[in-house]
Amino acid sequence: MSDAPSPATSTAPDVAPARGSRLLAMLRRLRPYAQGSGPYLALVAIAVIVTAITEPLVPALMKPLLDRGFGDNRLALWIVPAALISLFAVRGLSTFVAKYGTSAVTYSIVERLASAQFSVLHKAHPSLYTKSTASSLSNTMVYELQLGASMVVNTLLSLVKNLLSVVALLGYLLYLNWQLTLIVFSVGPAMAWVIRALSKRLHKLTKQSQSATDELAYVVEENVLAWRTVRLHHAQETQQKRFAGLAHSLRRLAVKSTIASAAVMPVTQILAAVALSAVITAALWQSSTTSISVGGFAAFVTAMLLLITPLRAMSEVAGSLTRGLTALERGLDLLEHTPQEASGSYRPTDTTTPLPLQFENVHLTYPNAEQSALAGIDLQVTPGRTIALVGSSGSGKTSLVNLLPRFVDATQGRVLLGGVDLREWQMDALRQQFSFVSQDVVMFSDTVAANVALGEAPDAERVKAALKAAHLQDWAGALPQGIDTQVGHNANTLSGGQRQRLAIARALYKNAPIVVLDEATSALDTESEQAVKAALAELTAGRTTLIIAHRLSTIEHADEIIVMHQGRIVERGTHSQLIATSGHYARLHQLGSATGSV
Ligand SMILES: Nc1ncnc2c1ncn2[C@@H]1O[C@H](COP(=O)(O)OP(=O)(O)OP(=O)(O)O)[C@@H](O)[C@H]1O
Ligand SMILES: [Mg+2]
Repeated sequence: MSDAPSPATSTAPDVAPARGSRLLAMLRRLRPYAQGSGPYLALVAIAVIVTAITEPLVPALMKPLLDRGFGDNRLALWIVPAALISLFAVRGLSTFVAKYGTSAVTYSIVERLASAQFSVLHKAHPSLYTKSTASSLSNTMVYELQLGASMVVNTLLSLVKNLLSVVALLGYLLYLNWQLTLIVFSVGPAMAWVIRALSKRLHKLTKQSQSATDELAYVVEENVLAWRTVRLHHAQETQQKRFAGLAHSLRRLAVKSTIASAAVMPVTQILAAVALSAVITAALWQSSTTSISVGGFAAFVTAMLLLITPLRAMSEVAGSLTRGLTALERGLDLLEHTPQEASGSYRPTDTTTPLPLQFENVHLTYPNAEQSALAGIDLQVTPGRTIALVGSSGSGKTSLVNLLPRFVDATQGRVLLGGVDLREWQMDALRQQFSFVSQDVVMFSDTVAANVALGEAPDAERVKAALKAAHLQDWAGALPQGIDTQVGHNANTLSGGQRQRLAIARALYKNAPIVVLDEATSALDTESEQAVKAALAELTAGRTTLIIAHRLSTIEHADEIIVMHQGRIVERGTHSQLIATSGHYARLHQLGSATGSV
């Protein structure tokens, strides 16, 4: 059971609406992704109908075989075998075509849905990333989608096929003997009730399994990312226990689901046996009053026995349909209910002119936070100037710069770039204005060139120029394939200083007018700090720069130093002015750190 709070994204209510309407609603939601599948679906429909028609033909063969196969007036010897072989040949072909067509439709839907889901990642409101974990999102997009789509389509196919078989067989039974057939009908409501009750339970169990799987995947994700910390702190055992606990609850859920779905079959079989015995008794009783031929009776019983297979298959459909629908719903909910980032429409005609930045009484309170991260910031940044932000940890420096590319929005007040509220800016145009270099450098598993030119087709000359300006030309020159060398998984083989300079090269390549540096040099030794500093000097020359630094030595030359405390600006001025006032900054300076307690 998942009693621990789940990191899952799922927002769907935990109730099971009637399966039929759920299925219809799902098909409606899937329709936009099934475009061009028409011909395949038509093919599948024809194949399914053909398969269903061949169903009663087997018992129908029994009647002439038994009635006319043995007495006088005999059938030619070859007729029955020939009919039987042709029948199964047609049946085999139609079954094959139906399977092929369904799989073609399924995977074209999966492909489109997956792409659409992935694009949600790039359009979603940033709150998506605080609400859901990477593993639960990849679970939804990769695993649940595949599973859900193939389960729903396959069970739908089997449902339609079996339903048609049942209709065809029942039709034949009615034609043979309608009184007996009514007995067969009488089991219907009982079966429906059993299936309904069990699929309700399955829906609940499936939702719980989804959350448990997410949690399990999240533990794996964390342990992969933090493997060094885990080993250093000898946390293997506790992590193993954490995993085992979740794996255990997943196992219990899986067994419960199996119990629920496996119970359907024996129950329906018993009901079928009851119907069968009733029919046989009634038929024997009838035979004393009316004349039923042996062949007629054999055909009836065969058709009835044949009825059990599709009926059983239909009863089993409930389980996988519920499982598949729940999985697909999760994917479609992500697609349809993820709030999108709101963008304005303003685009400057001239993107090269540096624009002034202005903060007007900006407040920021994060959702569920008690204190404001920013409480009334007023700040003007003239183009080309370097502004340094210092202040104790948690004073709001990162929050302030995160407002600029709208990673978070001010809850009160406004931020203006070029005199235009950030919320009126077209999102891409706005983000084009900023380069960010922060301490946690993220590299993609691609070539050096692609990482430097991220988002654009790499221009070799410009990439080389950026690497040179970032003081990486020696490093790049020694790579086996030069700038076309793969950096590997998050460029893990690079040193801290190299990764940082690669991030600076990326910022240089982007050539944005405003540069934001968040603690860009704090984790480096003196030697790489010198290299990074030189690279930074290239990056910030002629650009508006906002720099957050923990070491005061890196910001002494800033045009203005802003000292923050608890979301407010408490001091501002140049280094010498601030030293002269002997306030917060002077005290920090004495401590030698820009983030000591103020
Ligand atoms: N995503 C978030 N959700 C909720 N609260 C947040 C979030 N990010 C930051 N905070 C809170 O906002 C306040 C300011 O955080 P911020 O990261 O801006 O500080 P900082 O000045 O950059 O600190 P540091 O020097 O340690 O990096 C802190 O109290 C922090 O706990
Ligand atoms: Mg910070």
